[in-house]
Amino acid sequence: MRIVSGMRPTGKLHLGHYLGVLKNWIELQKENECFFFVADWHALSTSYEDKLNLKSLSLELVKDWVASGIDPNSSTIFIQSSIKEHAELYVILNMITPLGWLERNPTYKDQLQQMKNKEIHTAGFLTYPVLQTADIILYDANRVPIGEDQRPHLEIAREIVRRFHHLFECEIFTEPKELLSSTSRLLGLDGRKMSKSYNNAIFLNDSKDEVWQKLRGAKTDPQRVKRTDPGDPEVCLIYDYHKAFSNEEIVKKVEDGCKSATIGCVECKKWCAQSIEKVLEPIREKRASLSNEEIDNIIKKGNEKAKEITAKKMEKVNRAIFEIKCDIG
Ligand code: TRP
Ligand code: SF4
Repeated sequence: MRIVSGMRPTGKLHLGHYLGVLKNWIELQKENECFFFVADWHALSTSYEDKLNLKSLSLELVKDWVASGIDPNSSTIFIQSSIKEHAELYVILNMITPLGWLERNPTYKDQLQQMKNKEIHTAGFLTYPVLQTADIILYDANRVPIGEDQRPHLEIAREIVRRFHHLFECEIFTEPKELLSSTSRLLGLDGRKMSKSYNNAIFLNDSKDEVWQKLRGAKTDPQRVKRTDPGDPEVCLIYDYHKAFSNEEIVKKVEDGCKSATIGCVECKKWCAQSIEKVLEPIREKRASLSNEEIDNIIKKGNEKAKEITAKKMEKVNRAIFEIKCDIG
């Protein structure tokens, strides 16, 4: 299978990204031809006012990917804005995409509601799924790993492909299907969605001590006031983290020990920190060993490959559109 997926470079990656996205990508690259890219134009659609340093954010993002186990020798890693063909196809797709499809997009409507602090009544934000469609179909991706919120975008992508084929009487794109990752979402340490802006996240490049300080401060089952009070792991976030990062034996020990009050919360959190450390330590080490130059080279190589594929595709697209049918002479 050909797989394409992107991430917006809006800040440091946390454990939620690792579990929800990266682990999945790392698995997929073993058996498939994967293209992973930094969606920096997409980042601009919601953050054009934020004065982000997209160049350095993109570099750091790729560094996190590679440190986490994305293998640049088997996957192609590139930067969206370096491949102008994405923009070229986006322009064309915009011409044929009915506004109604975009205005009805449930993800769009949700985000307008949720991001009241941002002025996102822009053409770019409305047409976000059109650019995303270009990202995907330029590579003939048949599978696209995404989160649930992105599902409507894949639906739009398929509709655009069908419309293009119909209008220009050709079959040059592949209709992409979504690949929803099965892992459940990891909540932040305060029980809300894990997010940089809520200050409740454990980042991939947090030190051992930072992780411990964050876990130490996290709320546990409020019923466990004293060490001798039995608790209910199901209502405790630390237990969720154990289920995500600890082995079965520890998870069982936590469950039993919590219910019978034979372990304390501090002890339980220490085990949790150890399990998280098992994941983060190798990432941290790999990260420290990667130079900016190395990352630049990975990107350069990936960009070249992406460029080659998309240039060919755009030739076909332009032929289908500009050299068609009625030979007037
Ligand atoms: N919209 C995606 C997200 O927010 C990022 C993205 C951009 C993407 N282009 C893509 C994902 C193409 C998959 C394929 O998560
Ligand atoms: Fe949570 Fe562990 Fe304390 Fe139980 S023992 S309440 S699971 S931290």
